[in-house]
This record gives sequence, C-alpha cells and structure tokens, in this order.
Amino acid sequence: MNSNEINIAIVGATGAAGGTALELLLERNHPTDKIVAMASERSAGKKIQYGDTELTVVHATVDAFEGIDVALFAAGGYVSRRLARKVVEKGVFVIDKGSIFRMDPTIPLVVPEVNADDIEWHPGIVSTPNCTSTPLVMVLDALRSLSPITAVTVATYQSVTGTGVAANEELLEQSRAALAGENYVPQVYPHPIAFNVLPHIDDFLEDGYTKEEQKMLNESRKILHDDSLRVSATCVRVPVEISHSESVQIEFESNVDVLDAERVLSEYDGMIVVDDPSKNEYPMPLSAAGRDEVLVGRIRKDTAHENGIALWLACDNLRKGAALNALQIMDEALRRDAFKPAAQRMAT
Ligand SMILES: NC(=O)c1ccc[n+]([C@@H]2O[C@H](COP(=O)([O-])OP(=O)(O)OC[C@H]3O[C@@H](n4cnc5c(N)ncnc54)[C@H](OP(=O)(O)O)[C@@H]3O)[C@@H](O)[C@H]2O)c1
Repeated sequence: MNSNEINIAIVGATGAAGGTALELLLERNHPTDKIVAMASERSAGKKIQYGDTELTVVHATVDAFEGIDVALFAAGGYVSRRLARKVVEKGVFVIDKGSIFRMDPTIPLVVPEVNADDIEWHPGIVSTPNCTSTPLVMVLDALRSLSPITAVTVATYQSVTGTGVAANEELLEQSRAALAGENYVPQVYPHPIAFNVLPHIDDFLEDGYTKEEQKMLNESRKILHDDSLRVSATCVRVPVEISHSESVQIEFESNVDVLDAERVLSEYDGMIVVDDPSKNEYPMPLSAAGRDEVLVGRIRKDTAHENGIALWLACDNLRKGAALNALQIMDEALRRDAFKPAAQRMAT
C-alpha cells in the first residue's frame, strides 16, 4: 500500500487541528475519495473545501468508520473516549491528538524523530503529545547527545489556535472591539486575550502548576524514556494566532559548548537553527506559522547555571504540534507495516 491508497478519517475536520490535517493531506495530493471528514452531529452535511472539490462532513459514529484504514482523532477527549477503542475493534489504526491516552502506559506517545520505535508496540492507538511538548522533546533529544540533561526550565508563549477555532475568533473579535472602544465579554478565556497575556492554560492543580505545565513534565519523560528528567514549566497564552514559542533553559551533567549545541540542533531532523542576532534573525511565531520545522535560536550560555544552555524556539502548533506529527506517525507505521495492533502482528 502506498500512502495515497490509505482511507483516512479526520475526526474533528471542522476544527483547528483537523482542518490543518486536511490542508496537509491536500499538500500531499491525497485523493478526495480516500478521506472522510467527520465532526459532531451539528456539522453533518456541511461542506469543507478541499482543493478544487468539497468534502461533505459526516457525523462521527462507529458505523461511519466502515472501510477506514487510519483515523486521526482531533475532536477532544470525550469523542476519543467514546469512539477510539470501538473503531480499533473494526480494524482501524487510531492516531489520537488529544490528551486522554497520552499517559496510558499501554499506549505509545510518539514524536517520530525521537521515539519512532515505540510505534511497534501500539495496541491499535498511538497518541501524539501536547503541542508544547513536541518541539521541546525534539530540542532535548538533540542536545542530550552532548551530555545527559538534568533539569529544564521552560516558559511558553502559546497561540490561541492551541485552544481551537473559537479562541482564534475571540482574539480577532476582541481586538477589533478593543480598537473600536467597544466592550467584548470573553467567552473562551476567563479574561481578555487581546492586548493581554494569561499565565493560565488548562486547570490549576493543588501544587500550583496547571495541567498544561504538568503535561510538559510527564510527556517529556515518557517520550524521552527518562523518568528522572526534571521539567518546570510556566505556560502562558499570548495574543498570537498560530505558533507556540518557548524560552528554554537546559542544565546538563557536564559543560556544553554553544557551538556544539548549535551544530546538533541544526543537524536534527525537522529542525532549523535561525540565530543571527546581528541581522535580527531569531525564531518568531509569524515565521514558524505554516512551516513544518521547529525553529530554534538565541542559543547561548545560561548565566544562572554552570552547565546550562538557554535558547528560544517557535513551532507551528497546528502542524508539527498536532496534524503533521500525526501524519508522520501514520507514515512511519505504514513504512513498518504496523497499522495492526502489536498483538495481532505477532500472531500472524
Ligand atoms: N489546536 C491545537 O494546536 C492542538 C494541538 C495538539 C492537539 N490538539 C487536540 O486536538 C483536539 C481538537 O482541538 P482543536 O484545537 O482542533 O479544537 P476545535 O478547533 O475546537 O475543534 C474541535 C473539533 O471537534 C469536533 N467535535 C466536537 N464535539 C464533537 C462530537 N461530539 N463528535 C464529533 N466531533 C466533535 C468539532 O466539530 P463541530 O464543528 O461539529 O463542533 C470540531 O471539528 C483536542 O483534543 C486538542 O487537545 C489541538
């Protein structure tokens, strides 16, 4: 089978992550008759432009997965919980973009550049990380080739499309209202996001961190296979449409040279070093948006830690942070002939 022969369901096709999956399939010329766009009952019958043609949205029910080889779930935890395991029983390979399976020890959590081999043991579902964890683990994986990493401090600057389509509309409408001197009552966030930043993503936990911050620690450990890694994150929502940025300070067991760090980062698959302060060149959300690569720059000695490196990254949260990573998992599973659950592959 080649990748254009795969029957793919996009669950959440009317949303930010699902819509980007469709954009990526169009870039690959995936045939229209091999895509089923799924969403809630509300959207059934809606048309989505796909190149010169249109896809008709169908309600995501178990029956709608008839004949599907691979399903990309991007419709939130409730939908994945309700449908994912049932469609696996129908022989569908599920790639889930939500958070509910990420820390399940029986389900691999994969960024192909880092831990593609984990796809081998999937039980029918592979999970993809949170959009902030993905670029972070790629950077850490590149740098740990120079010296073991002992601790990471990260502050994120996350775009509103990370929350979804409705949050992006809120940013635009609220910005227009603010400039016109009009009132706009926030619907998606607890405070205005236009001309503001919110140090609050997902629910607060008892220890003072948020769930988003906890995800960065737990997911990094699982993907990097390093349970002793320490990650302290502060996750912040900023009034940016697309691309998350991160300020990262990494402590190593031994001294790491800045030029060596730059070299291993620039050699890493799916990463580009953009780092020429003399020309004002560094990663920015506007330059990362629409690109597949993680952009890394501002690479320098961390003056607060003896063996530390500080850097800045930007990554399109809808592409590598969500849809692209999912399609890369599909490509990798296809290459390994691993769409079926591991137990079934071993039995044959
Ligand atoms: N946005 C990102 O950067 C990003 C990154 C990584 C992971 N993710 C994950 O991707 C998922 C979707 O996020 P998003 O940002 O794309 O959200 P979104 O823009 O709000 O889209 C949500 C999608 O889910 C669909 N949906 C809602 N309820 C449904 C139901 N009962 N049955 C079937 N479909 C239903 C919606 O369809 P209707 O239009 O019919 O309501 C819509 O297509 C989440 O799990 C999120 O954690 C997102």
